[in-house]
Amino acid sequence: MAKAVRSFSDVKDVILSCHKDATPEDKMGFYDKWADNYEQDVAILDYRAPGLAADALAAGFQGDRENAVVLDVACGTGLVASRLQTLGFRRFVGVDGSEAMLRQARDRGLYQELLQCMLGSEELPVPVETYNAVLIVGALSVGQVPLTVIKDLWKATKPGGYVCMTTRGNTSNKGFKDQLECLLKKMETEGLWTAVSVTEVQAWERAVSDEEAGYIPGAVYLYRKTAL
Ligand SMILES: C[S@@+](CC[C@H](N)C(=O)[O-])C[C@H]1O[C@@H](n2cnc3c(N)ncnc32)[C@H](O)[C@@H]1O
Repeated sequence: MAKAVRSFSDVKDVILSCHKDATPEDKMGFYDKWADNYEQDVAILDYRAPGLAADALAAGFQGDRENAVVLDVACGTGLVASRLQTLGFRRFVGVDGSEAMLRQARDRGLYQELLQCMLGSEELPVPVETYNAVLIVGALSVGQVPLTVIKDLWKATKPGGYVCMTTRGNTSNKGFKDQLECLLKKMETEGLWTAVSVTEVQAWERAVSDEEAGYIPGAVYLYRKTAL
């Protein structure tokens, strides 16, 4: 059951308890325990990624939003679908590794389908070239979802469809962000997709580590898969 009133100090303790070198299974245990308090805590953290990603997709998306099928990878409790719904999108499929997060997403009532998958060690359990838009928000970072998943996101997307990704830009994630950007550009050079927008955001979310103060930065990447 969620605690009635949470403080920034509670949120810091939770996030810092999740070491970046924990195994993927440990990480899912962490999210299972956090699920009840997740939305309250990320509001305290001023976590803006779901809104920023949904807004970037809506700004770049060309097509019929009501009938677009959206795959929300690492969907958590469903904050991304919730924002996309306010922007006219209606059809959502969610994937996450945490059963407790999926339960929260189910209770939200927005997803037509919710699937459990350990990204990075299991194949993305969705058909290829099916989704008009695929998003992964708040999960591509050091110690979470690995870069090997990017190719699967691309495969799941319809030709002409969109892939929207986010990552943090703080010191501990800098190496991951550089590698992500290298891969995105390499795929563009190979003709697999084209960048629609890259948005660097200074006030991404409040810093929790002792080495950082104020807000940490982050980025939203929107790519369009090459049409056949
Ligand atoms: C910070 S939350 C973001 C959730 C949601 N996208 C949002 O922005 O609110 C990260 C999510 O990624 C999921 N996740 C992290 N690593 C994962 C992995 N390797 N496989 C599947 N899910 C993973 C967690 O269970 C959690 O729900």
